[in-house]
Amino acid sequence: MEKKLFEGALHATLYSKFRPNPPANLISFIISYLQEKYAGPLNLALDVGCGSGQSTRLLSPYFKRVIGSDISEAQIANAKQDTQASNISYILKTASSLEAEDTSVQLITACQAAHWFDLPQFFQEANRVLVPHGVLALMGYVLPCPFNPTAPDDRAAFMDVVDQIYHTTGPWWDSSRVDVDREYDRITLPYPDALYMRGKDSEQFTATVNGTVEEFLGYLQTWSGLQAYIKDRGQAECNKLLLHARLRLLDLLGQQEAGGSAALNWSFRYFLLISTKPKES
Ligand SMILES: C[S@@+](CC[C@H](N)C(=O)[O-])C[C@H]1O[C@@H](n2cnc3c(N)ncnc32)[C@H](O)[C@@H]1O
Repeated sequence: MEKKLFEGALHATLYSKFRPNPPANLISFIISYLQEKYAGPLNLALDVGCGSGQSTRLLSPYFKRVIGSDISEAQIANAKQDTQASNISYILKTASSLEAEDTSVQLITACQAAHWFDLPQFFQEANRVLVPHGVLALMGYVLPCPFNPTAPDDRAAFMDVVDQIYHTTGPWWDSSRVDVDREYDRITLPYPDALYMRGKDSEQFTATVNGTVEEFLGYLQTWSGLQAYIKDRGQAECNKLLLHARLRLLDLLGQQEAGGSAALNWSFRYFLLISTKPKES
């Protein structure tokens, strides 16, 4: 059965506002990998589980056409609203049925989304639509680590604030979340020509956000586990968790007076699983 945990309009709005954009070097790595394997024109890319289009938009300069697809109507509505590029379209569609002709797609990406899919069906569809030597890339990112912009090396106590909320909301996360924590180490790509970049091998793919304490708390509210916690326990209980986190962060920053506008940075490390469809498959 399909899992639908990104349906709420408010959740989708928080999502488009606070979820990270993949770092530019991750996208250029994927494009270089594709161009090493495939010599023809880049006509079409599909970004599956596109959410509000964070990863979709970054593909636009490289392809004639990009299609973002998602199972959530609210996410698609926000993606359309947030996107200007005329070569991108968005469509409401499950990953088990891709919007493309047979052998017509050079690149398929799924960013922080593949753990929600029916993977055997998705891989079958990917194989149907990819051209020979086309590329399938699954990306994701681990829990972000906040830090003080003026003391970037002291991160442990900041990370503890995130870990504590993650731990408290643990029972409300879907079981597939563990695959993100494990950086998809239980997923085997369908083609033998593949690269698995995780942990230290993926440190180069780190996106840093320069924001405020309030914005970081906004990001935490995009967590599907926290949204499930709110549905079950109510917004007031969530507010208590967030208030506690806010006070701890301000204390660590030594900025008790500044409140939510205190400067805070946080970084997301992305991992990447990428593979090439063989000539015959
Ligand atoms: C964590 S979000 C990631 C969104 C975006 N790619 C990003 O990088 O922020 C996961 C997305 O996958 C979508 N999704 C979940 N199951 C899906 C499925 N079976 N088919 C298509 N999309 C799905 C959700 O609606 C959600 O928008």
